[in-house]
Amino acid sequence: MAEKMLRYDFTNVRAEAVGAAGLGAEDWAAAESYLGRVYAQAQAARSSWGFTKLPYRDGEADALIALANELASQCDNFVVIGIGGSALGAIALHSSCNPPFYNLMPRESRGNRPRLFIPDNIDPVLISNLLATLDPARTIVNVVAKSGSTAETMANFLVVQAWLQRAVGSAWTKHVVITTDPEKGALRALARERGLRALEIPPDVGGRFSVLTPVGLLPAAVEGIEIKALLRGARDMLERCGGSEWRHDPAFMNAAIHYLYDVRKQIRIHVMMPYAQGLRDVADWFRQLWAESLGKRVNRRGEVVQCGPTPVNALGATDQHSQVQLYVEGPVDKLFTFIHVDQFSVQTSIPAGFSDDPAFSYLSGQSLNKLLHAEEFATRAALTKAGRPHVAIALPAINPYYVGQLLMFLELQTAYAGELYDINAFDQPGVEQGKIFTYALMGRAGYDAARAELKGMELSRPDCII
Ligand code: PA5
Repeated sequence: MAEKMLRYDFTNVRAEAVGAAGLGAEDWAAAESYLGRVYAQAQAARSSWGFTKLPYRDGEADALIALANELASQCDNFVVIGIGGSALGAIALHSSCNPPFYNLMPRESRGNRPRLFIPDNIDPVLISNLLATLDPARTIVNVVAKSGSTAETMANFLVVQAWLQRAVGSAWTKHVVITTDPEKGALRALARERGLRALEIPPDVGGRFSVLTPVGLLPAAVEGIEIKALLRGARDMLERCGGSEWRHDPAFMNAAIHYLYDVRKQIRIHVMMPYAQGLRDVADWFRQLWAESLGKRVNRRGEVVQCGPTPVNALGATDQHSQVQLYVEGPVDKLFTFIHVDQFSVQTSIPAGFSDDPAFSYLSGQSLNKLLHAEEFATRAALTKAGRPHVAIALPAINPYYVGQLLMFLELQTAYAGELYDINAFDQPGVEQGKIFTYALMGRAGYDAARAELKGMELSRPDCII
């Protein structure tokens, strides 16, 4: 298939399409000069956004592929221990660029690659059951933390390290690869002290923007995903977006539409609904990106703004039987993003059968591909008819090149939205507070003030429990 660019379609946010919930000429006119000014400012700032430099690091990709091939030949299981931005990108690449039941396939059908596990949680049942199913001698563990100190990751690492050591003794060090800041943090220090293999997350790239660093690329390359195609897709999208006219930059246009819905229509629930199982975890990755980047108490001038849309994931056609009733008839408080795939990697025809029963006969001889597309367009049409706005992003196919385009589109959209809200899209002070309270509750030295603060809080009163 010749390579194309993703298509972005905002037909169904026009007032002509969805009536009162649409963006009309007056909405665009009122925002015109602000959008132009912010766009110019964003173009000037763009080269300082760390994630925009990542697709150009070809030398790093070669080195990662070489390391990944070596690791893949040494193990049957590759386990990523990380959380949030240190896990979700790798999960999204795993499920979009591999067949759905990759881990259940025989090794030969997986390109002679190991299985991949990314628990992304500290649930004791999850972790103990995962370890119980794996042979430590045939497992490599990739410990990922930008800060090098996140409690969940440190705790899971301790559990997994002890499990490895019990099985292979001092050779546990050969079963661990660290991915962290080049200089700072406990993981970097440990890697130096114990001679562990260690990869670098560039200091100017935060967790949720790190999918195109070794955080996402190493696990992907271990599975044999073509990470150079992924980076090429991201680079092509970076170059597609930009230029002097904001109306021609699809990532900015999508950021602007979402922003205008928030500030002019008070519509701030953003539902992303791919019609492809393989993109379900991309929507999950985006949910974190959008929420953590834009949910902020103060703007860049220090004024309290408490801004931020609420991202929601849904999956077509599954959630037509779970959420769509609410979407079509409930409150007009949502803007939908459909993700469409032109061509799936397989065509599954629906065989003829029970032809005298009309519940079956109309389906016979058609395909699941056609049915899924029909359901997507039917849902979009039903929403438009009910006056609910949506945009659509279309991928020619799901492969590393188009996934690279999609991830970069969404990262750029998020950074642009940060400019529109005039907030810092790259920090997460609200997450840090929870981390500090966790350290305090777990008795970490240096957190006495947080422990005292927690003691003074009444989070659970006996007279409020029934
Ligand atoms: O986007 C972010 O910065 C966060 O979601 C982090 O990825 C998450 O908190 C994990 O942090 P770390 O990679 O330092 O363990």
